[in-house]
Amino acid sequence: MSVPFPIDETYVEPNFDVAQLASVEIFSPKVDETLWFFTELLGMSESGRDGDSVYLRAYEDYYHHSLKVTYRNEPGIGRTTWRTSSPQALGRRSSALEANGVAVSWRDGDLGQGPAADFVSPSGHTHSMLWEVDYYEAPESERSRLLSRPQKRPLKGVPVRRLDHVNHLVDDVTANREFLQDNLGFRLRENIVVQQREAAAWMSVSPLVHEIANLADRTGRSAGGNGGLHHLAFWYGFPQHLLDAADMFTDYGLTIDIGPGKHGATQAQFLYVFEPGGNRVELFGDVGYLIFDPAWKPLTWTEKDVDKSLIWYGSPLNREFTLFSDRVAV
Ligand SMILES: [Fe+2]
Repeated sequence: MSVPFPIDETYVEPNFDVAQLASVEIFSPKVDETLWFFTELLGMSESGRDGDSVYLRAYEDYYHHSLKVTYRNEPGIGRTTWRTSSPQALGRRSSALEANGVAVSWRDGDLGQGPAADFVSPSGHTHSMLWEVDYYEAPESERSRLLSRPQKRPLKGVPVRRLDHVNHLVDDVTANREFLQDNLGFRLRENIVVQQREAAAWMSVSPLVHEIANLADRTGRSAGGNGGLHHLAFWYGFPQHLLDAADMFTDYGLTIDIGPGKHGATQAQFLYVFEPGGNRVELFGDVGYLIFDPAWKPLTWTEKDVDKSLIWYGSPLNREFTLFSDRVAV
C-alpha cells in the first residue's frame, strides 16, 4: 500500500550502512607515558600488544579495543575505524567508494578486528571499515553484576566509559564533509560558516551529535592532504566526573588546554587536555543532546553567534590559542 500523499522522489533517504566509530589509532613518541595517562588517569585497560602498538579500551567499550597507541616520533593520528551495520553493508560501502573513484585496499584487521577496508579521505586521513570484531570478555574477577556493563567500573583515576568521537584537522572542511556524506552516509548535524567559509562540521551516523568532526586547520600544516588530529574524545559520564578529572589533571601536572566548559554545538560539557605524548584528548559528556529526527536540518553557526558554538560557558575562547591547531601555543 502506498502512502496517502505524494512522495518527493528527489528526497535522499538516509544511508545506515556505517553504524559506529569502532576505534582510533593515535601516534605517540612517549608510549609509556601515554599509556600511563590512559590507564592510570582515565581508567582504561590494556587489551593487547602488537609490534609498536598497544591496544586499550574503556570499561563500557564492548569490543576488544577502542584505542590503538602506536609509537612514532611525532604525535598524530593513524587509522579511524568504522564498524558497518552488517557484512553486506561493508561490501556495499567498499563498492560505492570504488565506484566513486576512491581506492580501497583490504588488509587483515588489527588485533581483535576482522578484515578491514582502508581508504583515504581528501584530507589525507586513513579511514578503515570493518564488520567482524571480537567482543571483550572480562575474566571472572572483572565481571560486573550489571549485565549491561562489560566489566566492573575500574578503581583507577576518573574512568571514562567509552570512545565518543574524533576530530580531524583538515584544510578543506567542505570537501571532507561531502566525502563522508556521499560515500559513508554521514549526516551533517551542525557546522560553522564564517565569511562564507566552512570552518567546522559535526557529523554522525547515529543519534549522537557526532562521531566525527572536521575542523579547519588555520596553521597550514594540513594543506595538501596532510591532515592531523585535533582531538580524540572519550565519554566520561556526568559533570562531577569532569570536575574530578580537571582536579586530577592539575594534581598530576597535565596541561589542560581549555575547560571545563560547555559547547554550544553538541551541548556537551567538556575539557581538553594534552596527554604526555602530545595528543589533545577531550573528555566529553553530560549527554549533550541526541538526534532522532530522520530529516534533521543542519544547524549553522555564523559570525553572529560563532563564539557560543565552541564555548557556551567556561574558559573564554581565544582565537590565537589552540582551537584551530594541534599544538599548545607558547
Ligand atoms: Fe570534540
